[in-house]
Amino acid sequence: MERKYPNLCSPIQLGNTIFRNRMFCAPTAHKAISPEGYALDPMIENFEIRAKGGAANITISEAIVHRKTGIRPAMGEAFTAGQFLEAEDIRAIPSLAATARAISRHGAVPSMELNHPGKRGVYTAPDGRKIHYGPSEGFLSDGITPIEEMPVEIIREIIQSYGRAAANLKRAGFGMLFIHGGHGWLLQQFFSPATNHRRDEYGGSLENRARFMLEVLDTVRKAVGPGFPLELRISADEDIPGGYKIDDAIELARLVENRIDLLHVSTGVHSEEPDERWQPDNFKPRGVNVHYAAEIKKHVSVPVATVGALNDPEMMEEIIATGKADVVAMARALIVDPELPNKVMSGRENEIIHCLRCFVCLNERFKTGISVCALNPQYSREHEALNFAPAAVSRHVLVAGGGPGGMEAALTAARRGHKVTLCEKSGQLGGAMLCERSSFKEDMIKDAAAMAKMCERAGVEIRLNTKVTAEYVKKEAPDVLLVAVGAVPFVPPIPGIDNSCVIMAEEMAKRSGEIGKRVVVLGGGQVGCEFALQLAMEGHEVTVVEMQDELAPDAGPRRVRPLLLKKLDEYGIATETGMRASRIANDGLYAVSNDGEEKFFPADTVLCAAGRKPLRDTVEELRDAAPMIRFFGDCVTAGRLLEATTNGYSAALDIE
Ligand SMILES: Cc1cc2nc3c(=O)[nH]c(=O)nc-3n(C[C@H](O)[C@H](O)[C@H](O)COP(=O)(O)O)c2cc1C
Ligand code: SF4
Repeated sequence: MERKYPNLCSPIQLGNTIFRNRMFCAPTAHKAISPEGYALDPMIENFEIRAKGGAANITISEAIVHRKTGIRPAMGEAFTAGQFLEAEDIRAIPSLAATARAISRHGAVPSMELNHPGKRGVYTAPDGRKIHYGPSEGFLSDGITPIEEMPVEIIREIIQSYGRAAANLKRAGFGMLFIHGGHGWLLQQFFSPATNHRRDEYGGSLENRARFMLEVLDTVRKAVGPGFPLELRISADEDIPGGYKIDDAIELARLVENRIDLLHVSTGVHSEEPDERWQPDNFKPRGVNVHYAAEIKKHVSVPVATVGALNDPEMMEEIIATGKADVVAMARALIVDPELPNKVMSGRENEIIHCLRCFVCLNERFKTGISVCALNPQYSREHEALNFAPAAVSRHVLVAGGGPGGMEAALTAARRGHKVTLCEKSGQLGGAMLCERSSFKEDMIKDAAAMAKMCERAGVEIRLNTKVTAEYVKKEAPDVLLVAVGAVPFVPPIPGIDNSCVIMAEEMAKRSGEIGKRVVVLGGGQVGCEFALQLAMEGHEVTVVEMQDELAPDAGPRRVRPLLLKKLDEYGIATETGMRASRIANDGLYAVSNDGEEKFFPADTVLCAAGRKPLRDTVEELRDAAPMIRFFGDCVTAGRLLEATTNGYSAALDIE
C-alpha cells in the first residue's frame, strides 16, 4: 500500500533495533506508582494504550537515579514525594518487566527515561539536614533555599546509579533508554554556565561542564553494551539569563554523538515563566522548536529527534522529508489521541484529535494528582479502553445535542454496538467548540470536525437541523436517551443589553464583520479574556470590565491564567475589575465600582461574555421521555470540555 506520509511512516534503525516508523512517544510522567517506586497497573496501561496506537517507541518517565539525593519534594498539594519510578533496586525488575512487555507486545519499543533533578532533589543528611545538591552554591528559585556544591563522591555515586539502573532496565526487557540531559535537570545544570561555577574538572570549560553527562553516557553504554539504542535529550537553548545558546548545544552534540543513537533536541528549562519553551503553549506556532533540531543536525551525523507541539502529519512528514530531523517525538499529541500514529499510517488523518494545548492535564495533576485530558476521556481510564467490549444487547440510543459531550457519547455507544442516532439542532456538529475562532484555539474547530468524522465512521446516524423534543423522542421510541443539549448565553439584566451594539460572545464567530474598532468585553472570566485577546490581536482597542476583583479566576493556575494575563498586558488590553455594569448605551458601557462610582467606557461594540446557563427547559421537557435517560455537559452545569466529554463517554458505557 502506498502511504500518504511515506517518510513519517518509514522505519528507522537505531543501534541494532528497527523502529517501525518515525513517530516516537516523548516521555510523560504518570503517578500510579507504589511507595517503593514500582509501576502500578494504571500506569502500565496508560503507556500500553499508546503502544497499541502505533507509536514506534514509548518513553516512560521517569526513573530517578540515586534516590538518596534525587527525590524531589512534593510539587503541589496532590503530589507526594517519592512518586518516581525505581530502577536501581533489583526488586523493581518485575514491575519494570511487566511495563516493558505491555509495550512491546504491541510492536513498540519500550524506553525508560533516566533522570536526576540535581538541585531540585533533596538529600537528608545523617544529622537530619535537608541538602539540595547542585553543581555550585546558590539558591533555589524561591531565593531562600540554599544549594550546596555537589561533592565529587556524590557525582561518582550518581554516575554508578545510572549504570545500575540501565543494566536492570535492559534485563527487564526495555529496548531503549532515554537519558535526560535537558530542561534544567542535573546534567543540564552541570552543562549550564548559569548554574555551574565549579573550579574542578566538572566546571569551567565546555568540555568540563559536559563531563558529567559524558561519564553518565559512558557508564550507561557499558551497562547495556554496543548496539543498544540510547537516546539523549538536550535543550538547544536554555533561554535563561546567563544560560547557554545553540552554539554550545552544537558543541555538546559533537561531544555526545558517538556515545548515543538518537539525539533528542528539545529546548528551555523548567522555570516560573508561563511561556516555557520546552512545552509550547497555544500562542506559539506548531513546530516552534524544529529549527533547533535542524540546526544541530547540520553538525552531527547521529540521528536527531525534534519535539514540541507537533501533531500535524503534513508538517511532520515535511520535517522528515526535508531532513530537519529523523524522528518526531510527541507527548501531548499522543495523550489526547494515542491512535494518532495508526491514523497517520492508514491515511485517516482527518480523524486525528489535536491537542488543544489547554493544560487541563497539567492543572489537574497539580490540583488532584489525577491525570486527565480535556478531549480524551479514556486517558487514565485505559483499563476500560484496553478491555473495551461490545454491549451484551444492542440498544436504540438517541443522543440529543451534537456538541463535544453528545458526539463522545454517540461515538462510544456506537463502538459498543448500539444503534445510535445523533440529533443536532443546528446545521453542524461541534456545539460550543464552534464558537472559537481565535488563532490560538483553532484546533478546537479541527477537533469538532474529527469527532464528527469518527461518529460517521462508527456508524452513527447523524441528523442535523433536528431539535429533540418530547414529541420527537416519543416518535423515535429509543431505549436510551442521552441528552447533551448544552447551554445558552447568560444575558445579564442590564438596561440596554438588547442594544444593537451588543454581541454575545458565542456569536462572535458569526458576527465578526459587525464588531467595531473599540470593544468593551463585559465579563472577565477566562472566556471573556480570551475573546478580548483575540480581538486585540486583530487590531481592536479592547477593554475588559469585570465585576469580580480578579480576572480569569476560572483559568488554570498553572501556565494558563498567568499566560493569559501576560498576553492581555502584551496586547495593551485595558482591564477594569470590581466594576458592575449598570447600563449600555449606543456608544459604550456604564459600570459602577465597588465604592459606588459610575464610569463610562466608550465602545462601538459591547461583547457580552457574562457566562452561560444550562438549557433547563429542554432538560425538564425530556426528563421522562425514555426508559433510560442521562443528562450531561453544559445542560447540567455550564463548564469545561473535560466534563462534557468525560460524562458523555461514561454515560455511553453505562448503557446495558
Ligand atoms: C503530562 C506530561 C508529563 C510529562 N512528563 C515529562 C517527564 O517526566 N519527563 C520529561 O522529560 N518530559 C516530560 N514531559 C514533556 C514532554 O516529554 C515533551 O517534551 C513536552 O510536553 C513537549 O512536547 P509536546 O508538545 O508534544 O507535548 C511531560 C509532558 C506532559 C504533557
Ligand atoms: S488536556 Fe489539553 S493540553 Fe493536555 S493533552 Fe489534553 S488537549 Fe492537550
